[in-house]
Amino acid sequence: MYRILEFLRQEKGFISGEEIGKRLDISRAAVWKGIKKLREEGYVIEAVTNKGYRLILHDTMYNEKEIAQGLATKKLGYPVYFFKETDTTNGRLRDIAAGGETEGAIAVAEQMTAGRGRRGRPWEAPAGSGIWMSILLRPNIFPSQASVLTLLAGLAVCQSIEEETGLTPSIKWPNDIMLNGKKLVGILTEMECEMQQTHFVIVGIGINVNTTEFPEGLMDVATSLYLESGRTFSRKNILQRVLLNFEKLYMELLDSHCSFAPFLDRYKEKCSTIHQEVKVLGKETFFAQAVDITPEGELVVIRKDNGKKEVVFSGEVSIRGGKTSE
Ligand code: BTN
Repeated sequence: MYRILEFLRQEKGFISGEEIGKRLDISRAAVWKGIKKLREEGYVIEAVTNKGYRLILHDTMYNEKEIAQGLATKKLGYPVYFFKETDTTNGRLRDIAAGGETEGAIAVAEQMTAGRGRRGRPWEAPAGSGIWMSILLRPNIFPSQASVLTLLAGLAVCQSIEEETGLTPSIKWPNDIMLNGKKLVGILTEMECEMQQTHFVIVGIGINVNTTEFPEGLMDVATSLYLESGRTFSRKNILQRVLLNFEKLYMELLDSHCSFAPFLDRYKEKCSTIHQEVKVLGKETFFAQAVDITPEGELVVIRKDNGKKEVVFSGEVSIRGGKTSE
């Protein structure tokens, strides 16, 4: 069926079933069956007597084939594992990776029934509205360095959204992407490692694209590109752009021996946390003023209670007075 799709994609105008059959060396009945299947998948194929078939191209199709088609990356996105419904793409890709899959493979779901968020929280991932994607990486880094991948994923997603939509989201350190004070994107990085060795890393990215509403309780803190702009966007185009931008940053990271320093200025430019009052949620919870990001990607804060400077390594900050997912 996908050979027929390729064929229709290349043809500008109509092409008869007979001609398709001849070129692909299949019967007219097989062509008709293939067309029927493609339509069932959601492709709009016009049929006119005496003229044949024509594919009406549209950007809303979202499946393995569409995502792979036109990917400009060298590594990321090969192969694409697409699930109409799955529990969690991070979990699925983890199993796939444990079976030996190569770096760059991605798992994408139309819908997740048990999407995972940070700190054991659930992640809402209904069908038709967002990008729920996990990326498999096998970098030669120490487990302690892996958090830099999360920072770069945030930067790549932020850049990609800006390029694809013209909207200007910002990064809430370390890696939430915010738009107009609400959370637009969540990133969850998980890894398989031993003390000194990383076997693989799964970077899970959730982007609320065309979501029209959120469950009660989330409406105040979460948003989507659609809700902020009134426009719908092609998930495929955004996903492909994220892969391309993330791959560029990832390659640069490997070239720089996994140092975050070369990315610091770019990251800081997009990061809205600096100069904000924050609540640091870690072993200890305290209020502070965020003042800088270190070349290692940590947040520098000045505590409100004792005026001391501290470096926050990971964990979470919630912006005081702003809306967050906390
Ligand atoms: C967060 O809590 O902010 C992180 C949310 C991460 C959601 C993404 S969607 C794709 C991937 N698969 C999951 O189950 N979670 C991540």
